[in-house]
Amino acid sequence: MKILKIQGGNKLNGKVRIGGAKNSAVALIPAAILCDEVVKFSNVPDISDMDALSDIIKYLNGSYKRKEDDMVYIASSQMQNKEIPEKLTSRLRASYYFMGALLGKFKKAEVCMPGGCTIGSRPIDLHLKGFEKLGAKISYRGDTLVIQADELIGTNIYLDFASVGATINIMLAAVKAKGMTIIENAAKEPEIVNVANFLNLMGAKVYGAGTNIIRINGVDELKSCYCEVIPDRIEAATYIMIGAVLSDDLTVENVIPEHIHALVQKLIEMGVDIQVDEDKVHVTNKNKLKPINVRTLVYPGFPTDMQQIIATLMTQAEGQSTIEETIFENRFLNLYELIKMGAKIKIDGRKAYIDGKTKLYANNITASDLRAAAGLLFAALIAEGETVINNTDYILRGYEKVVEKLEKLGAKLQLIEI
Ligand code: UD1
Repeated sequence: MKILKIQGGNKLNGKVRIGGAKNSAVALIPAAILCDEVVKFSNVPDISDMDALSDIIKYLNGSYKRKEDDMVYIASSQMQNKEIPEKLTSRLRASYYFMGALLGKFKKAEVCMPGGCTIGSRPIDLHLKGFEKLGAKISYRGDTLVIQADELIGTNIYLDFASVGATINIMLAAVKAKGMTIIENAAKEPEIVNVANFLNLMGAKVYGAGTNIIRINGVDELKSCYCEVIPDRIEAATYIMIGAVLSDDLTVENVIPEHIHALVQKLIEMGVDIQVDEDKVHVTNKNKLKPINVRTLVYPGFPTDMQQIIATLMTQAEGQSTIEETIFENRFLNLYELIKMGAKIKIDGRKAYIDGKTKLYANNITASDLRAAAGLLFAALIAEGETVINNTDYILRGYEKVVEKLEKLGAKLQLIEI
């Protein structure tokens, strides 16, 4: 296990460059195995989720090579279709994309249940219903899901909820199916558009990604291509919010402003001094912060992944802010740790009431998931004294070079293996 020791209270100034989006990259890498030729990606984040995916690709006898820091090459011509064991799938939620990708490639996938952050029950029933509608039969062998089809045939699939994972997984299974698949009530997140664009670069025919109806016209073959991973909007949001409290002058670079529109609107409402340019955001702590109400929604609403981070920002606003979490039922564990640091918070089911402005004090705290870890790191950077965050491995799953990036801005922190 790794812990972080953070000496809080330092000003953070300068420039920080955002890496590739975790939630795109974790789908793009499994999607690449649909093609037998070499596929090249740039702007791939250097995070531990990528190591977990690389281990799965290598286990299946494919090749995963990282070069020049952010370039990754995937080769799948020698790939074998084997059961992916729990010790590999449990390392990340997105291991579920091998279900759609192997099904699309070999018409058969044997994959143990995925791992990931403990933020709710996180079922995958919508993924499986989609595979079944395409003609697959699903059975269980112990903990292994066996998904198999004689033939995958395009069809209409209505999602009861606009699930990110189900939308992408069904796209992966459908790109080589016979005929037209239509996903209705599809999720619209930017990462879905990144994956659809990648599939099209390989020769797939995917239309409408980014809207709630996606049409996929099946093709027989996919070819080699080069694709860039979009910048990570959650990493960008994290640094912007940190800057709103701790910076006289922070520039967050490599940002697509449209992808963080909901956050920027909320920060303007709080009175944050923020300036959004074409591909960067400038932020300072010049103004007093006003309280706000946030309700998490599917894109383009306020993202649940930013909720645990804005909770920390709310402790620094003058008055009562509220959060309503509508996507996941168990995404407030970070708040109990914030309370230990001096925050005044009441939790009532899926609603939280945060009273500010409170001084935050260093403590020994524990991260329960990736974004909780980010929100707590933010609190530790504000707090007086030395905070220890246990279970820091979570943050390394989604924030590349987080210690180096923060140190460069002036933070004092140390990652320690215990
Ligand atoms: C993805 C993101 C995660 C983000 C979430 C919502 C990845 C790897 N992770 O997670 O960071 O927080 O989107 O933006 O991209 N649901 C079902 N049945 C299903 C699938 C989902 O009931 O088959 C429910 C979930 O329990 C949850 C909601 O739908 O309440 C949203 O889940 P979903 O959009 O699928 O999130 P993930 O793909 O797991």
